[in-house]
Amino acid sequence: MSHNLLKGKTGIIFGALDEKSLAWNIAEKCYEEGAQFTLSNTPVALRFGQLEKLSEKCNATIIPADATKVDELQTVFSKSIDLMGGKIDFVLHSIGMSHNVRKKLSYSDLNYDYFVKTLDISAISFHRMLQTAYKLDAIKEWGSVVGLSYIAAQRTLTGYNDMADAKALLESIARSFGYIYGRDKKVRINTISQSPTPTTAGSGVKGMEGLMDFTNRMSPLGNASASECADYCVTLFSDLTKKVTMQNLYHDGGFSNMGMSLNAMQMYNKAMDCDCD
Ligand SMILES: NC(=O)c1ccc[n+]([C@@H]2O[C@H](COP(=O)([O-])OP(=O)(O)OC[C@H]3O[C@@H](n4cnc5c(N)ncnc54)[C@H](O)[C@@H]3O)[C@@H](O)[C@H]2O)c1
Repeated sequence: MSHNLLKGKTGIIFGALDEKSLAWNIAEKCYEEGAQFTLSNTPVALRFGQLEKLSEKCNATIIPADATKVDELQTVFSKSIDLMGGKIDFVLHSIGMSHNVRKKLSYSDLNYDYFVKTLDISAISFHRMLQTAYKLDAIKEWGSVVGLSYIAAQRTLTGYNDMADAKALLESIARSFGYIYGRDKKVRINTISQSPTPTTAGSGVKGMEGLMDFTNRMSPLGNASASECADYCVTLFSDLTKKVTMQNLYHDGGFSNMGMSLNAMQMYNKAMDCDCD
């Protein structure tokens, strides 16, 4: 059911690949809530993903860009402003990639070229996006920028590898740029720290299924789904959260404040009692 929370608002959504993507779910909800936006992803993702389908559904123009390239980001912002008739209201950064994760290299055996690439794609791209928007003065006063993060930025979770470092940097950029953008142009910047979710990027993490079961058992409200993440994101793009900025906001069913739950303890005890060989 639509509440028209984004009626009249315009934006850019980076990182929708297929129906499972968090950005895909967010784009659908933004559209339902009355927003108009452009979509962006890499040329490779456009070839192998299903972005065309989303573009038709949401009546959104696709502007290809590699988020590690400033000139391509400038094009996305400039074209979006032209297409939507002026400065925009919101930006979603939903981008992450690690070759170390993909190639199953462990954190104690990282390839440093891949490591630099992980940081560049998954975190520095957020700064690049913000700096581009700031210099072009592309975002309206009281506009909102959201990046997607994960609790591995604060706590060590086996298998998350160098993406943990990327998320720590991403959240730090939200604070540092959040101060400057808020002070100078009244634009807010936050990250949502989302539960593990079965997407293409998510499924690359070693032991993802077990991790999702664990966090689900540990969270009093259970894991947050992609669709629930989209609902939360809509509130952050709406005028109902105008004074929320520089925050990392947990959207994880309570997982981040748990130590041990009854549900997880029961599972653990069962495993201890089992006659395993
Ligand atoms: N799935 C999860 O469990 C989970 C949990 C918390 C946070 N996140 C974060 O959510 C975001 C979206 O991931 P997702 O789970 O929806 O997976 P996804 O695979 O659907 O999305 C990742 C996107 O990043 C894009 N991308 C990769 N390199 C790029 C580049 N150089 N330039 C522009 N785009 C590039 C991909 O094309 C893809 O669309 C990521 O930041 C991810 O770390 C995911």
